[in-house]
Amino acid sequence: MLNGKQAAAAAEQIRFVLDDEVVTLVNPAPTRTILQFLREDLRRTGSKEGCAEGDCGACTVVLGELVARDGTERVQLRAVNACIQFLPTLDGKAIYTVETLKRQDGSLHPVQQALVDTHGSQCGFCTPGFVMSLFALFKNDAAPDRACVADALSGNLCRCTGYRPIFEAADRMYQCGDQRDWLNRPGTLAANTVDADEQALISQLKALRRETDLRVETGDARYFAPSSLAEFATLREQMPDARILAGGTDVGLWVTKQHRELPVLLYIGNVAELKGIDRSDTHFEIGAAASLTDAFAALNGAYPELAELWRRFASMPVRNAGTLGGNIANGSPIGDSMPVLICLGTSVVLRKGALTRELALEDLYLDYQKNAMQPGEFIERIRVPRSRPGWVVRSYKIAKRFDQDISAVCAAFALHLDAGAVAEARIAYGGMAATPRRAAAAEAALAGQPWQEPAARAAMAALDADYTPLSDMRASSGYRMQVAKNALYRLWLETRPDAPLASAQVNVFQLV
Ligand SMILES: Cc1cc2nc3c(=O)[nH]c(=O)nc-3n(C[C@H](O)[C@H](O)[C@H](O)COP(=O)(O)OP(=O)(O)OC[C@H]3O[C@@H](n4cnc5c(N)ncnc54)[C@H](O)[C@@H]3O)c2cc1C
Ligand code: FES
Ligand code: FES
Repeated sequence: MLNGKQAAAAAEQIRFVLDDEVVTLVNPAPTRTILQFLREDLRRTGSKEGCAEGDCGACTVVLGELVARDGTERVQLRAVNACIQFLPTLDGKAIYTVETLKRQDGSLHPVQQALVDTHGSQCGFCTPGFVMSLFALFKNDAAPDRACVADALSGNLCRCTGYRPIFEAADRMYQCGDQRDWLNRPGTLAANTVDADEQALISQLKALRRETDLRVETGDARYFAPSSLAEFATLREQMPDARILAGGTDVGLWVTKQHRELPVLLYIGNVAELKGIDRSDTHFEIGAAASLTDAFAALNGAYPELAELWRRFASMPVRNAGTLGGNIANGSPIGDSMPVLICLGTSVVLRKGALTRELALEDLYLDYQKNAMQPGEFIERIRVPRSRPGWVVRSYKIAKRFDQDISAVCAAFALHLDAGAVAEARIAYGGMAATPRRAAAAEAALAGQPWQEPAARAAMAALDADYTPLSDMRASSGYRMQVAKNALYRLWLETRPDAPLASAQVNVFQLV
């Protein structure tokens, strides 16, 4: 399968930084999780396993990676869920666990001390995860507001203490403890200057950069992590049955919850060319391996009205690891990015070997878990049009909780309003059909009509012809249809020509 040159170029060791030391592992099992490695091999049992599916945050660790920021090489520290990250993906990174934070003399990190001082911990099962999420915030932001703290903690569940003392700890950590070491100094990564400690870590991580592609083989399982796009495309073509691994926030659960065997993994996360986001006058070009965090930050610049949707997408650690390419490729009928991306006229650039083709995102989805990708093909880039004058865009996620919940329905709308009429309507929903899908009848009910309440009501009624939603554990069919219609009515209230309501007036999360 691999030619001689590829085989010779492949290496089987992974190297990463833990507690300032470089750790080398030979042929780690491809689907062994970082959490299993920490707890079972290193006996670093501070990180806990609560759910093993990215939901509870008890396993949160912080990963350090080299990134280019404003033309300068910097370290990026981000919280992720160790329970669904596979061990070989640590290659070339630094990892920080709760054990890293406590000093050898026994003194606590400011985050830990603040949690003690504010009585932010009772059973302690969740606490290491809270510590690590707060640690990432502490290093990245010198003065976060409450919304930033809530976002940083969106992936951490506590079932006994309650969140008030934990929020107090987030305020207090900036005044706590002895801040003499780099780990204990807040906000250094938000600063424009690189301090000596960060520089030392940059040098250490640079030394781990590989000149050869990573190839791990244990028993029947194999893991390939090419570092160039061309090599990735070649391997993908040669191994159409290999499972592409991006952020692992879907794939990880197939292993931890469904116990699926994944004999060949092809990791996209080392392909630097696919992690970038380019902006032209007309489009965002989002590399398939760009994290959800980075992709949403870029899109927020053009579409601030979508900020809440992105904030409610999973949790910060899931968004840090997960990619937009993975969300789109996974094609879940309840995926949150696709409805609005379809409304915006997004396309995907698919690649097979050296050949690429562009496909409208809506044409990617053929049926439940069936897409139009050919064997050996993969998503290389996502092309999202920039905002255009005269268009109004909204997307509403309907789920039981604000953070970290899967949608019952996700509604998205893009209307081109011209001289008081709907020149073009693009409407798409998740949770209403086997794939994320446009609402052709509702769109037709609006096209060419004055943007007035009768047209909005006609489009709401037309949704009955567009969808026959399922009943499942998240919502009944009737509920789904009702909230789908209500979302369209909310769009009308927010965008009607006379006395439009501000989002805060129709948003249940801002009304409480
Ligand atoms: C706790 C939790 C909460 C979540 N909440 C949400 C939510 O609110 N909304 C939501 O939409 N999703 C949610 N998800 C699902 C998941 O986070 C997203 O689908 C995410 O974007 C997947 O990206 P990934 O990089 O992790 O993909 P992976 O898990 O690595 O891959 C997913 C699939 O895509 C394929 N793939 C990946 N990249 C490519 C590519 N470039 N070309 C072709 N195929 C590719 C993989 O082979 C696999 O089949 C949640 C997941 C968890 C664990
Ligand atoms: S153990 Fe629950 S998120 Fe990892
Ligand atoms: S202190 Fe967090 S679950 Fe008990």
